Amino acid sequence: MRQTGRRAFLRLIAGAAVSGSVLDDLLRKTGSHPVGQASAQNVDSLKLGLISDLNGSYGSTTYGSSVQRGVKLLMQQQPDLVLCAGDMVAGQKRALTNSQLKAMWAGFEQSVQAPLQKAGIPILPAIGNHDGSSQQHQGRWIYGRERQQADLFWGKHRVNLQSRFIENERFPFQYVWRRPGLFVVVIDASSANVDSSQRQWIESALTSPHRQPDDLCLVMGHLPLTAFSEGRARAGECIANPRELALLLRSGGVDLVISGHHHAWYPSESMGLRLLSLGAMGSGPRRIIGSGVIAPPSLTLLEWSRASELINETTIDLTTMQPMSSDRLPAQVNVAGFAEARRRSLQWQRG
Ligand SMILES: [Fe+2]
Repeated sequence: MRQTGRRAFLRLIAGAAVSGSVLDDLLRKTGSHPVGQASAQNVDSLKLGLISDLNGSYGSTTYGSSVQRGVKLLMQQQPDLVLCAGDMVAGQKRALTNSQLKAMWAGFEQSVQAPLQKAGIPILPAIGNHDGSSQQHQGRWIYGRERQQADLFWGKHRVNLQSRFIENERFPFQYVWRRPGLFVVVIDASSANVDSSQRQWIESALTSPHRQPDDLCLVMGHLPLTAFSEGRARAGECIANPRELALLLRSGGVDLVISGHHHAWYPSESMGLRLLSLGAMGSGPRRIIGSGVIAPPSLTLLEWSRASELINETTIDLTTMQPMSSDRLPAQVNVAGFAEARRRSLQWQRG
């Protein structure tokens, strides 16, 4: 790293209350790009910021300190792209007016989207239950106004992602996005119902002629395929009939399935798939099932190098700003009625 760049970098780190030695260690571990050198055109490596569950209490237009620290960290780390697994705003309450919903998205823009966009870091969203739940009653959306506002907000920002879309008819709810080396399928798992028509759409997305054999293939949706945290091992908190969907994703050669909603970082293997349950970036820490571990607010950095084909994941505790060790996580999460998930390595190869 050039000296002036390094000085600026260390100043930024100090601003986020991260010690130089911890971050240096983190950068060594992840093989990160020095600030300013991550190139959107660089197809030999990719660095992604993975975040989820930022929202505060219903109607909130501001964000807690862990979200602010996380945004600052992302701006320092300069990932090529941020993927957000949902719950960016605090809806899912029918009493909220349209102007309140708009104000929440304006708050998200001000605190999260605009600073990242200004730093040249686009965000790929997945819609969460608090952003625009897909729950229906008698064939109609229960939270239709939330979905409309999410659609309006992301429609305004679609231009920032436009050139990379493969399919965006139902953006921001379902879409396919590609850049060299990366193929992303975003699914609408804003409720437990990922219906048969969406499953067919996913199947055809994964067999798109635009997908290249070397692409890292990520599928992201808000609800996970199985249960990770206490209070979430019940109907409505995970995708219904997950085994059928898991089979489809497995056949489709998906490298990683990313989810939020359970507010607990847990990298796992389940149903023949590699899963990543993201911790909440905001409030609402939850205990991982069958353990004494309460998940702190966190974000994950994922780095991929084409040369080695190695993927490294580093998750940062947004309270201490320290990298988290997976050794403290239980070896498996197993609860009646849900597929078992086994803790996996944070370094892996495709295939
Ligand atoms: Fe959620």
